[in-house]
Amino acid sequence: MKTLNLDIEQTKTKLYLKIADALRKAIENGTVISQEKLPSARVLAEQLSVNRHTVMAAYNELVAQGWVETKQRQGYTVAKVLPAYRASTSMNIILKAEDNHAWRIIKSSQDAFSRPAHNYPFNFAGGNPDIELFPFNEFRGFINDALNRPSIKELNYGDNAGFQPFIKEVATYLRRVRSITNKEIIVVNGTQEALYIISQVLLKAGDKVAVENLGYRPAWTALRNAGAELIGIKQAEQGIDVDDFESLIQQHKIRLLYLTPLHQYPTTTTLSVEKRVKIYQLAQQYNIPIIEDDYDHEFHYNSQPLPPMAANDPSGLVIYLSSFSKIMFPGIRLGIIAVDKSLATHLVSYRTLMNHKANVLLQDAVARWMKDGGFERHLRKSTRRYQRRRKCMVDLLNSFVDEGLNLEFTIPKGGMALWVNVGSQAEALSKLAKGKGIFILAESAFHLNHQNNENKFIRLGFAGQSEEKIKQGLLLLKPLFNNK
Ligand SMILES: Cc1ncc(COP(=O)(O)O)c(C=O)c1O
Repeated sequence: MKTLNLDIEQTKTKLYLKIADALRKAIENGTVISQEKLPSARVLAEQLSVNRHTVMAAYNELVAQGWVETKQRQGYTVAKVLPAYRASTSMNIILKAEDNHAWRIIKSSQDAFSRPAHNYPFNFAGGNPDIELFPFNEFRGFINDALNRPSIKELNYGDNAGFQPFIKEVATYLRRVRSITNKEIIVVNGTQEALYIISQVLLKAGDKVAVENLGYRPAWTALRNAGAELIGIKQAEQGIDVDDFESLIQQHKIRLLYLTPLHQYPTTTTLSVEKRVKIYQLAQQYNIPIIEDDYDHEFHYNSQPLPPMAANDPSGLVIYLSSFSKIMFPGIRLGIIAVDKSLATHLVSYRTLMNHKANVLLQDAVARWMKDGGFERHLRKSTRRYQRRRKCMVDLLNSFVDEGLNLEFTIPKGGMALWVNVGSQAEALSKLAKGKGIFILAESAFHLNHQNNENKFIRLGFAGQSEEKIKQGLLLLKPLFNNK
């Protein structure tokens, strides 16, 4: 231990006894704990500006009293078993805990997003990437580069939107793969932070926000936290029911629309081009900004994904969100907002209230990785792998159907999960599965209004675990499915 703050009293007692007393108090009140190493006599003497022998005398006193132990060449440690508590002779008032302080909690989130799925041997949670596929060794090189050649100026305060070389890489990537141009990029600590900032900047208590009837609860929580009242839009074959959206607009003053157009969360459907056009026209007509959460666009199989709504946004009302949680891992906490300049400045300055900017060292390393091509190499590799896993899951479920089990699903064009109709037993299935060590969410977990729960669907993630695990888990699950 290097330093230790001691409260030395100003009495007429000898100095070494005052130091011993202060050390004893530090042990009694838990500043240092049993068997913890104490500062050497030299370090403590320096810190207290006293002679080293004075500190040694204090330590020897405590050794004699049984508070401190000393072993040759190992210095002083707090004794393993402390002497029984003796009434303090000091003048200090010892504060005792009566009842714990009762906090006045002004705001709290009802939905604490604990992620219990990881504790299950078979984890079919829908949005899990396979973190073991991440090229940690390769990425270490880019972290080293960022440390070896640091951008000293950028590591300081300022430039709050993000680290420019990273923004440049992301802008190029989004332009090439998502056709996004004419937007400012803001770097955030993941989509959740983006949703929080946007909600705080654009909403006030009582504002109505339209969301998909089945959707992403963490987004809803951020919106509600800003005081929003959520209005669910019916869902149909190819994304939301646009007529229902229009009639909601006529009934309520909708301030914001939150959508997952590419792979609707959780149903995996893609919002058709016709619907996108109608939704956009309505948004223009009624002045409704759209949050487009493009959370797993990276993984699209067989064909190219539809470009996002943000790619064709002449009025600049689409707020586009993308995350590195799926392509790297959720713990990376990195994401971006691509948005019209007129809103970008407000979002950046609001974010500064809670955090100056996102982690620059990390942005630097990821920018180098992207520039080198590693990011897209990893993307291609994991897309191929997830596509095989999707096939494995689809083939096995189809074989269950052939054997007469009651399962229905459409093969999603992309994403990381299947939305499977299991008849009217989704909830029971999810519960029984947990008993077998299998994590699956039923549709009830995704409904805005619980009365809409038909108890038919489960979401089966295929990306996060190996084909072997997918097979084992589904075979364990098989006896729980109903017959046709
Ligand atoms: C719909 C949706 N949006 C966004 C995210 C990513 O959020 P974040 O970037 O905060 O990890 C997820 C992850 O599960 C998601 O399912």
